[in-house]
Amino acid sequence: MNRTVFVNGEYLPEDQATVSIFDRGFLMADAVYEVVSVLDGKLLEFAGHIKRLERSLSELDMAKPKDFDNLLEIHRELVARNSVQEGGIYLQVTRGVADRDFIYPKDAEPTLVMFSQERSIIGSPAAKAGVKVISVEDQRWGRRDIKTVQLLYPSMAKMMAKAAGADDAWLVEDGFVTEGSSNNAYIVKDGKIITRSLSHDILHGITRASVLRYAAEAQMVVEERNFTIAEAQAADEAFITSASTFVTPVVEIDGTKLGAGAPGPVAGRLREIYIEESRKAAI
Ligand code: PDD
Repeated sequence: MNRTVFVNGEYLPEDQATVSIFDRGFLMADAVYEVVSVLDGKLLEFAGHIKRLERSLSELDMAKPKDFDNLLEIHRELVARNSVQEGGIYLQVTRGVADRDFIYPKDAEPTLVMFSQERSIIGSPAAKAGVKVISVEDQRWGRRDIKTVQLLYPSMAKMMAKAAGADDAWLVEDGFVTEGSSNNAYIVKDGKIITRSLSHDILHGITRASVLRYAAEAQMVVEERNFTIAEAQAADEAFITSASTFVTPVVEIDGTKLGAGAPGPVAGRLREIYIEESRKAAI
């Protein structure tokens, strides 16, 4: 595979695209990212992702990359040049290149790197069968609302899940589920959808915002509050949301099967609505 990727204003074959060893993204994880999904060769939730990117940059006093206003065009160009039908566009902005120092450099030029990934989302086996999760302690930093590339702990959590024969991990802090390692977490009890409310504790998922809006429009009851693993294990269903998984059912938590141990109707319905509405709004 030799994709065309985008690095600092240039489209290049991936094996010729480079970033400096002094890039602060590499040295300090001083970088933020977004993942925009692609369906039928079109972008999903583009405006929401760019708005969150702008917020992440601003929370970290990081300058916008010089191509910020061209991001839609660059996304579309990467989709076209790599003939992506289904998958996503990964985008990362770093504070730029400077000699190693904890202090932010004064006038570094932000680095912008983007590339495409092909992936089956609609027909993913996880969507049909559901996923098994384990709970692990949430040991991430306290500003999870900023989408930084500090992803070592989420990677560790996914490795712990894999070692335990599960698919993913739900993170738990002070006895309550914060979110999944790379997704937002929900349970369903007596028809009610329960998910943690927004704060610095979790990423403000773009998929979450849309799914909760669609749920309300479909007259489903949504309760934004904390829940424990024990409450989740006693729930009728559970599911996760993210750009790369849409709505995906959770069928087992720490070895306890939920309800019938199969994907539930609420998650199924929300997934259908999400796909239908996202397709309509794709650009
Ligand atoms: N992950 N919570 C965390 C910790 C995440 O990393 C993500 C996204 C989400 C869901 O956000 P959204 O609906 O905006 O994708 C929640 C992306 C997809 C990733 O890291 O690949």
